[in-house]
Amino acid sequence: MAGLLANFRNTVIVSVLLALVMIFAYSQSPHGVDAAFWQAVFRWLHTFFGILWIGLLYYFNFVQIRKMPDIPAELKPAVSKYIAPEALFWFRWAAVLTVLMGLAIAYARGVDYAHETLTLGLFNGYDAAADRGFTLLGLAVWLAIIMAINVWVFIWPNQKIALGIVEGDADAKAKAGRTAMLFSRTNMLLSIPMLTGMTMTQTLFG
Ligand code: HEM
Repeated sequence: MAGLLANFRNTVIVSVLLALVMIFAYSQSPHGVDAAFWQAVFRWLHTFFGILWIGLLYYFNFVQIRKMPDIPAELKPAVSKYIAPEALFWFRWAAVLTVLMGLAIAYARGVDYAHETLTLGLFNGYDAAADRGFTLLGLAVWLAIIMAINVWVFIWPNQKIALGIVEGDADAKAKAGRTAMLFSRTNMLLSIPMLTGMTMTQTLFG
C-alpha cells in the first residue's frame, strides 16, 4: 500500500478505477445508460476538472503570490523554475477540460437548455419566471468563460515570459509577472460569484 501511495501516477489510476466501479453502479439506476446518465458523468468530470483548475487558482492566490515576496532571492528559482511551471501545466489544461465538460453537461440537457444558458435566457424570448434560472446560470458560465480566456490569453503567455520559459529581459519579465498576477487576481475576484451561480441553480431551478 505504501508502495502504491508513494507513486502519484499509480495512485491516480487506482482512484479513477474506484470511481469507475461507482459509475458502473450508477449505470444500474432506473435511468440505465441514457442521456441523463451521460449528463451525470459529464457533471462528475466537470466538477473534477473545476476543482483542479480553481484549486490551483486558489493555490496561486492564497499561497504562492502572497508568499513570493518573502522568499529570499536565492530560493525564488525553486518556485519559478520547478513549482510554478508544473502548477501552470495542470492549471491551464484543467481550465480547457472544465469548459468542455461544462458545455457537455449543458448540451446533454438539450440544445434548448444549452442555448438558453448561453444567452442568459434570451433564446426563444425572455419570460422572467421561466428564464431567471438561465440568467443566473448563464452569468456563472460567462464568468467562467472569461476566466478561461484570461488563463490562455493573459496569464499563461505572460507567465511564460515571467518564468523565463520564453526570452525576455529583466524589465519585460517584471512587467509580464505583474500582468499575470493582475489577471490571476481578476480570476480570483470572479471565481466566487461564478461558483455561486454554478452551484445554486440546480437545486433552486431544477
Ligand atoms: C465555461 C466554463 C463552464 C461551463 C460552460 C459550465 C457549465 C455548467 C453547467 C451547464 C452546469 C449544470 C448546471 C445545472 O444543471 O443546473 C454546471 C454545474 C457545475 N459547475 Fe460548471 N461550468 C463552467 C465552469 C465551472 C467552473 C470553473 C467550476 C469550478 C469548480 C464549475 C463547477 C460546477 C459545479 C460544482 C457544478 C455542479 C452543480 C450542481 O450539480 O448542482 N463550473 N456547470
